[in-house]
Amino acid sequence: MSISINSPADFHVHLRQGPISELITPHVRKGGFGLAYVMPNLKPPITTTEQALKYKTELEKIDPNVEYLMTLYLSPELSPEEIRKAKKAGIVGVKSYPRGVTTNSDGGIESYEFYYPIFEAMQEVDMVLNLHGEVPSDPNANIHVLNAEPTFLPHLFKLHAAFPKLRIVLEHATTRAAVEAVKQCGPTVACTITAHHLSLTVDDWAGQSWNFCKPVAKYPDDRQALRDIVKEGHPRFFLGSDSAPHPPHTKSTSTPTHACAAGVYTSPILLPLVAQLLESFGALENIGLFVSDHGRKFYKIPIENQKVGTSVVCLTRAPAGSIVDEKYVSGNESLVPFWAGKEIGWKIAE
Ligand code: NCD
Ligand code: DOR
Ligand code: ZN
Ligand code: ZN
Repeated sequence: MSISINSPADFHVHLRQGPISELITPHVRKGGFGLAYVMPNLKPPITTTEQALKYKTELEKIDPNVEYLMTLYLSPELSPEEIRKAKKAGIVGVKSYPRGVTTNSDGGIESYEFYYPIFEAMQEVDMVLNLHGEVPSDPNANIHVLNAEPTFLPHLFKLHAAFPKLRIVLEHATTRAAVEAVKQCGPTVACTITAHHLSLTVDDWAGQSWNFCKPVAKYPDDRQALRDIVKEGHPRFFLGSDSAPHPPHTKSTSTPTHACAAGVYTSPILLPLVAQLLESFGALENIGLFVSDHGRKFYKIPIENQKVGTSVVCLTRAPAGSIVDEKYVSGNESLVPFWAGKEIGWKIAE
């Protein structure tokens, strides 16, 4: 049995920078994908058009056969003028991180209002706002990793009401509440779902640092809501892997003063992994919608790319006993993928 998919697109991925990026970036295509929607949380973050274009050039040097869609990091340095410049330069979106929620807020009241002139400009030029939909933890307000996403959702509704034409993506949804919220919004609001959140629940990362990511995987009922919306084939829900590699020693150990790094590395096995997961809950027939059509439609990115054309990727059954690589090594750098050493039932046909 085989499945053909037109131009798989990963609408949320971390490709990092420097030597480690040379190991990570080619894994986009290794995992079956020809489009990468690139996150801007480098050190320092990508906050200007110039930085984003330089970063894009670096990525193209590593693998020219991927279409890189670039983003800016929402910060007080951004201006409406910079938004217009970014749009002209082909930059697609602006990512807002949790920190943004409280920046410049008055008296501890969380607010995005400081950024309204930016959102106004984005709406005008039709750029996409990518929301990391969590509020920061606050023990005094009983806010913690398990309710950080539901607590964020009023911000989503408020932003959508204030900017009804602004395209907004709620990134890496992990809860039933988030799925319901996005469904309730109009056609300008969409949602990415990661492969790992279709797989994991809290029990899988409690005590297992390799499965630890933000937002953390939630309850089985939340995972069910994610699976159901993929199975339903809802057009405003699509794949964004949030593949987020970290050096193995930072994943595997915490210290009394430092938590282990948050992030799961799925890029190198992404398409086979998605196929296996969708098959496990009876949604395999929707794989093309989930990994290509829905996201491309929302982002208005054609299947046919000038540079890389249409790439039909074919998945076939992997021989029994096929195992995910334990690690990838290049020079001094190494990375451990999600599901390392576990059996996987699909592979990309050569
Ligand atoms: C962090 C943040 O708040 O900026 N986000 C997170 O851990 N989910 C780090 C980052 O991604 O930049
Ligand atoms: O788990 C995560 N890792 N979540 C994020 O939002 C950021 C990411 C990273 O960059 O490592
Ligand atoms: Zn995020
Ligand atoms: Zn991310």
